[in-house]
Amino acid sequence: MNEKITIMIDEDTVDARIKEIAEQISRDYAKKEVRLICILKGSVFYTTELAKRLTIPTTMDFMKVSSYGSGTVSSGQIEIKKDLDDSIEGLDVIVVEDIVDSGHTLSQLIPELKKRNPRSLAVTTLLDKPSRREVDVHVDYTGFEIEDKFVVGYGLDYNQSYRDLPFIGVVELED
Ligand code: IMP
Ligand code: MG
Repeated sequence: MNEKITIMIDEDTVDARIKEIAEQISRDYAKKEVRLICILKGSVFYTTELAKRLTIPTTMDFMKVSSYGSGTVSSGQIEIKKDLDDSIEGLDVIVVEDIVDSGHTLSQLIPELKKRNPRSLAVTTLLDKPSRREVDVHVDYTGFEIEDKFVVGYGLDYNQSYRDLPFIGVVELED
């Protein structure tokens, strides 16, 4: 089977929205410093593009959790595959996600991070598929709400491919 990618959200639109979110976060966290937690690997592009546009002091740390295998269906559980390098105790933390789908990843990750006593904990996601939600999760800054399509690009993959696309695309399988 071959995949065909069609553009859902073009590069300029994604970049403009990230700039707006960065401005909002910079206002909300004025005079503070934020620790961005990038959830590997999907959030790498969003994290760096967001960080570049924040006008407040920013540090970054990286965490890898498993939620999906090679398929497109959530396993419903997460496992920490790579933990943060540093403590987040007393810090203003923003978790950066690529996409919230069922909500299972964040609903398990957030309590885990709260146990580590950050001063505050917020969540941003580039994409949200609200129609797919199985568990409630609170997201503070959402880039785009999208319909229930499997998307790639801007860090998001299909079997590890297409992360490098500079836009959000929809994968269609054709034989
Ligand atoms: P959740 O736990 O179901 O909310 O899934 C979150 C994770 O699933 C995201 O961080 C992505 O890694 C992955 N995911 C969900 N939907 C998509 C998609 O449309 N394309 C690529 N990855 C996705
Ligand atoms: Mg992810």
